[in-house]
Amino acid sequence: MFIVLEGIDGTGKSTQSKRLAEYFRAQGKTVTLSREPTDGPWGTLLRKSAETGRLSPEDELQAFLNDRKQHVDELIKPALAAGHVVILDRYYFSTMAYQGARGFDPFLIRKDNEAFAPVPDLLLILDLDVDTAHARIGSRGDTANEFEQRANLARCREIFLSLKDEPFVKIIDATSSADEVTQSVLRAVSSFTSKLP
Ligand code: TYD
Repeated sequence: MFIVLEGIDGTGKSTQSKRLAEYFRAQGKTVTLSREPTDGPWGTLLRKSAETGRLSPEDELQAFLNDRKQHVDELIKPALAAGHVVILDRYYFSTMAYQGARGFDPFLIRKDNEAFAPVPDLLLILDLDVDTAHARIGSRGDTANEFEQRANLARCREIFLSLKDEPFVKIIDATSSADEVTQSVLRAVSSFTSKLP
């Protein structure tokens, strides 16, 4: 099973993906939990660029693709082949949203990614209005980096929400408390697993 959590910065993806991993582990399942950008060389470069200045749009897009190709080959595909539950905190839908907000066509980004990256069984989009997301980024003691500027997040949110009618997508309202969001996440996952043969 392959589950991806997405959403703009400040929606609580990392908390919820850890809790989801715990939920499956408590059922005795083997879980591979990972994130993008990864901790590999391309991901490290990209994280650094959020603080020191973004790469050119073309170089940035290419770096996210390079990071993902490595992630797919070295971790995602082997884990799926071994029968693990794979949970990702961000994937190519973030490229559609963030590099889409930078001017690239989200549908072309999707096509290029789906040429090598497996499509998840379930995509949970944690949705939050931009003001609340911004306030949460501020309350973690962070100042919004270049990826997290308000206008940018507004466009990213729009692109994420444009996926809402896809059969494998579930929009999760991330406004309420972390515990309530976890309940919504688990409901979405149970509803998906109950339909499996
Ligand atoms: P993020 O998950 O927020 O990392 P951290 O929790 O360490 O801050 O990812 C960093 C930024 O990378 C985030 O603002 C979104 C951006 N991003 C893209 O622009 N494109 C992508 O394809 C991915 C995966 C992330």
